[in-house]
Amino acid sequence: MNVVRVGEFAWSTMEPSEGRFDFAWLDRAIALAAKHHIAVVLGTPTAAPPAWLTSKYPDTLRVDEDGKRAEHGNRQHFSFTSPRYREFAARIALQMALRYGHNANVLGWQIDNELAAPSFDASAARQFHQWLQHRYGTIAELNRRWATAYWSQTYDNFSEIPVHSKGENPALLLDWKRFVTDTWVSYLANQIAVIRSHADSSQFITTNTMHWNIGFDHYTAHRDLDLAAWDDYFPDGHLDPILNAAEHDLVRGYKQRNFWVMETQPGYVNWGAINASLPPGVTREMAWQAVGHGADAVLYWQWRSALNGQEQYYGSVLGPDGPPVPVYAEIQQIGAEFERVGPSLANTSPRANVAILNSYDSHWAIDFQKHSQKFDYVEQITDLYKAIQPIAQTIDIISPDADLSHFKVVFAPALNVISEATARNLLAYVRQGGHLILGPRSGMKDADDALQTVRQPGPLETALGGHVEQYYALDKPVQITSAFGNGSAAVWAESLTATAPNTNILMTYAPSAGWLAGKPAALSHVYGRGEITYIGATLDPALLRATVDPLMSAARVRPVLSHIPPGVELMERSADRGARIWILINHGTSAQHVELPPGAIEMLSGNAVGSIDLPAHGVAVVSPERSR
Ligand code: GLA
Repeated sequence: MNVVRVGEFAWSTMEPSEGRFDFAWLDRAIALAAKHHIAVVLGTPTAAPPAWLTSKYPDTLRVDEDGKRAEHGNRQHFSFTSPRYREFAARIALQMALRYGHNANVLGWQIDNELAAPSFDASAARQFHQWLQHRYGTIAELNRRWATAYWSQTYDNFSEIPVHSKGENPALLLDWKRFVTDTWVSYLANQIAVIRSHADSSQFITTNTMHWNIGFDHYTAHRDLDLAAWDDYFPDGHLDPILNAAEHDLVRGYKQRNFWVMETQPGYVNWGAINASLPPGVTREMAWQAVGHGADAVLYWQWRSALNGQEQYYGSVLGPDGPPVPVYAEIQQIGAEFERVGPSLANTSPRANVAILNSYDSHWAIDFQKHSQKFDYVEQITDLYKAIQPIAQTIDIISPDADLSHFKVVFAPALNVISEATARNLLAYVRQGGHLILGPRSGMKDADDALQTVRQPGPLETALGGHVEQYYALDKPVQITSAFGNGSAAVWAESLTATAPNTNILMTYAPSAGWLAGKPAALSHVYGRGEITYIGATLDPALLRATVDPLMSAARVRPVLSHIPPGVELMERSADRGARIWILINHGTSAQHVELPPGAIEMLSGNAVGSIDLPAHGVAVVSPERSR
């Protein structure tokens, strides 16, 4: 253990009464950590305001969507818009920054903890109305873009607009999500400002997030943070290596840089249906998988159990009595291994030439109007991730507005909302030689969540040389034939039409497919120096794999190391100058053999090896270059 995060939630101990601060205990903890060569990340405690604050100033308490004000006794009970709450939050952050901003043992800061619950109080409504006014300028413009004449929603002024997160005009719902995002951004900025102005610039500022959480747009929220960090949990105790890989890549994409795992489970959690423990070896497997995907630190939550409180049953590294629990030995091994190869991993990161686009606007818009309850936005991404991972091996999951120029292939599985700026970004990418592969429901909506007046993919229609004629939610599978193989779609299918003479029809629905019979299911078209492909159906896993493999080969995407046995994952990190490190993990339950290039060195053992035998959950860290 060489780093500890402390202080998040400790507000009542830091400020026992209004304006009276007590940091003696934290001074002692940081000094003790330093004595044992353990660096500290300080959490600001604002996810848990103290009782003196919430009882004297009840306007700082969160109000839920049904109008019920939170009470004391849990956490996250504050209002994220309350101006008074922000004053108290800035003051405690300032006290901490003044005291620890130049402490050499403090590595960085975590603002708050797992930002999650918006408030629906009066200040939230007021600020939402101001936000809308700023966005639209006039109420007439809002009425036009929201199409409020429909169902007599026309507003005379901004203050009439309801504050809802469900069951509303989708334009309002999308703007509410954006308002929530901007409110969390300013909530963070309130504390970032005081810390930045009183702390060494070497101290990073982050917050810990929850992977696919769609409470706010994580790309926007990370703009002003130095580092992305997340909390990686498998409540049922069963690691899903592909889903976990995608989650790491998602978080790496927030800043397109290495990240931290700020929390992960020592064995088990306490909030699942059955809180089974990770089996022996899987804690280590997870730690190394995190590193393979770009984590520069892995921290366990929690070190030792609090004797009382809501999380008594939670996994810990030490027991409540002090001595270690059984998983300690595995964590100790991880620590020793990180210490051994950490210096070689410094300044290395994963480098992908394939990207998957993740759009919060699209995710929200689809969730507001799923049309089929089987259509799951995250599954669209993870199904694709599974299909491309064997060839692509390193994958970036990033915003559709990111710079795409260095990717050989970019997938956009369900890019439902395409703003004008996103369309320009995608078209520029294709024109310059990229291959963009769109999935079903792409390009249906504009930035206001309004239907595009050009059929899907809307602003990309001309580049595709074709469009969607009609979409169908499926209650039974339809059959598809193609040059890549035959298969089916079970969730969603769109009939396509080619409108340009040189548009290729890649797939066709079978004659038994009702409205879809004989219609194209996928099109591709050369545009500029690149190519654009639209796949209009949720393909079964085998057909999806058979389709994406040749598309990636044509774009010269090659695995780092081919012939990897099933269940073995290879992750590459490399430095700017090119030195490469491979992390190989056997996620399966039986031993596997991997052939390595001549001269490879297994770095955990220090041995030169021509091949490696990986037991179940086994890990190898390999320097493939002879010179190393
Ligand atoms: C979150 C919180 C922690 C703890 C864990 C339990 O990640 O940040 O304080 O409650 O959940 O899973």
